[in-house]
Amino acid sequence: MTTVTATNAPLRKFIAMNAPIKNDRIEWLQGPSADGTVKCPPVPAERNNSWRLILLGAPGVGKGTQAELLTERLGACHLSTGDVFRAAGKRKDCDQSPAMKAAMEYMRRGELVPDSTVWEMVRERSHCILDCGGFILDGFPRTIGQAESLRELMENAQLSLSAVINYELPLDEIVRRLSGRRTCEKCKSVFHVTERPPKVEAVCDRCGGRLFQREDDRPESVTVRLEAYERSTSPLIQFYKNLGLLLPIVAKGSPDEILARTMEKMAHLDKE
Ligand code: AP5
Repeated sequence: MTTVTATNAPLRKFIAMNAPIKNDRIEWLQGPSADGTVKCPPVPAERNNSWRLILLGAPGVGKGTQAELLTERLGACHLSTGDVFRAAGKRKDCDQSPAMKAAMEYMRRGELVPDSTVWEMVRERSHCILDCGGFILDGFPRTIGQAESLRELMENAQLSLSAVINYELPLDEIVRRLSGRRTCEKCKSVFHVTERPPKVEAVCDRCGGRLFQREDDRPESVTVRLEAYERSTSPLIQFYKNLGLLLPIVAKGSPDEILARTMEKMAHLDKE
């Protein structure tokens, strides 16, 4: 186990995990239940390191893949807003609110879901951000408005971000990654038909679930998503740079190489 310190933060630890964390993020994916029965397992004390990270980068750059790997190393919970919308989309029609039904349409077209819907959903799940032993936010915030809402939520709870990791990759490589992506319908693990293939075709290595191609990975939706990223999300790079939180990472190479580059930069957080 290596221990590092980071500016404005308590002592932080990188954990060498022998086995992947069994965390199905049920509270994040399903949202709070009225009877309190939807609960994630308690966070073991040795994994409660309070890493609070945001992953930025264009659609398909590899945020979800890195979030899974970082979760195994840091013990923080992988919180993806895209996964919440996709989980909601799988529910029976009558269990979906009108706002959620509208969100599905935005997603299919590749457009951003309105800030008010996204924030309502995140606010309902704020327990996962504030009380769950650290987080890796993937796909949120995506606009300056969302970033301001998150800042207010965290400031009110006297919490600060550890860093904002910005993954950078040329456009042609991004499009190649998106077109070959396959996702597990059960545990949401991410594969690629050639770069990260499952051991058995179309079957998840982790849970045996069926792998599917996302509807918004069709070429016409990909173009819209990349435009939305340029217009609404890329300004967050400067926003977090101004706050002294940005860690730019080149996202070329294998997932393990990118993870190693990320951990190396994070280990130097307190020295920069
Ligand atoms: P979301 O699910 O967040 O999608 P995204 O940001 O578009 O990102 P992706 O999941 O497409 O890509 P990724 O960077 O995670 O890459 P991955 O690791 O999968 O959002 C979807 C939609 O939901 C949005 O368009 C919007 O409509 C809505 N939404 C969600 N949040 C919102 C918000 N906050 N506000 C408004 N709307 C919101 O990797 C891609 C592929 O590459 C995989 O196949 C992977 O195996 C492969 N790969 C990864 N790393 C490597 C590598 N190093 N080498 C080779 N292949 C690799």
